[in-house]
Amino acid sequence: MDAFQFKLRTQVYYGPGRRHELAELLKQRGYRRVGMVIDRALPELPLYQDWLDALRREVDALHVLVYQAPFEPTYGYLDQIKDVFRDREVDVLVGVGGGSVMDTTKGLAVLTTNPVERAVELRGFPTDIRPPIPVVMVPTVAGTGSEVTYFAVFTDEDEGRKFGINTEYNFPVFALLDPELTTTAPRQASLSSALDGLVHALESFMSVRHTPFTRPWSMAAVGHLVRGLRGLMADLTDVAARGELMKGSYLAGAALMNASAGPAGALSYPLGVFYHTPHGLAGAFFLQHILPYNLARGYTDFADLAPYILPEPWPADRTERAAAVVRTLQGLIRDAGIPARLRDWGIPQADLDRIADHAIAYLWPAFEMNPVPMSQQDARDWLASLW
Ligand SMILES: [Fe+2]
Repeated sequence: MDAFQFKLRTQVYYGPGRRHELAELLKQRGYRRVGMVIDRALPELPLYQDWLDALRREVDALHVLVYQAPFEPTYGYLDQIKDVFRDREVDVLVGVGGGSVMDTTKGLAVLTTNPVERAVELRGFPTDIRPPIPVVMVPTVAGTGSEVTYFAVFTDEDEGRKFGINTEYNFPVFALLDPELTTTAPRQASLSSALDGLVHALESFMSVRHTPFTRPWSMAAVGHLVRGLRGLMADLTDVAARGELMKGSYLAGAALMNASAGPAGALSYPLGVFYHTPHGLAGAFFLQHILPYNLARGYTDFADLAPYILPEPWPADRTERAAAVVRTLQGLIRDAGIPARLRDWGIPQADLDRIADHAIAYLWPAFEMNPVPMSQQDARDWLASLW
């Protein structure tokens, strides 16, 4: 049936140096009392000190919470911080950081206007809630796409699962994308985040739910992210490469939100919960294997990505062109330091059943997005083959 929707509600301001427009962009919308969540590595850096000092002078109030969770955010961490903005009368919350900080900002926006005993009560897709404080996103590492989606992922440590606090109220009002803000991010965090974006781009591209609106965004995102990743690996301070990653992150995040995630992104969840493997690295691990899995079973849409990432001349044969695209993407993931096998990460073979059980019980809808249909046994066999 030829019917689909494309949701997008976040304005974007892109450009090196545009961080200095933040106060103006907030005031244009009547936001003068600002709550901010910022990654703990940032306030000490002169680039950020100067920026925040200037912002503080330009708004009526600036209350800053420094993000302190040791790994990706949990409901338990939200409980520790859920009241910090309650009595501050802030009219906007600005998230300044990577995916964890941006997601935490969205969670806090909901918790500030919806007091609950425990944050976990709002897990999933809560309905019947009061509108949260509006959120604005300023990523300081590119790739997660949290700056364009309403999703916010949190781990429930009691159940050993990732859920979220997901409400369409939490579409960021705007995203301010200044690549200069990402030049201080360390190599590992930068790569993990960029690879997360690459997973979003490829999985939205492959998803059986891709639409004529998502495909162009996915394809453009792949081009930006591949250029950005190459540039990043050559020089961490390359603003042009950082900019490519920011463009790709936004496009891929929007595409994924409208096309649904696939098995690589989903399988990153048990690795994150069980072994604290960063989301982007884990997703890239599975991406490098799902691409050839699909190619070997006759899926050749990858050929359409050749103009975005391959130098000419491209192989004339469609299957060969698709194979060349897959090899290029696999090479990039390998160059980023992603191991080839699960055992290289120290994951015991005996754990494979537990990972597969988790994926099948909680994440199966993502497997149903794969363009090559997989049975549950196919998924188990595939996972076992990756050890
Ligand atoms: Fe992701």
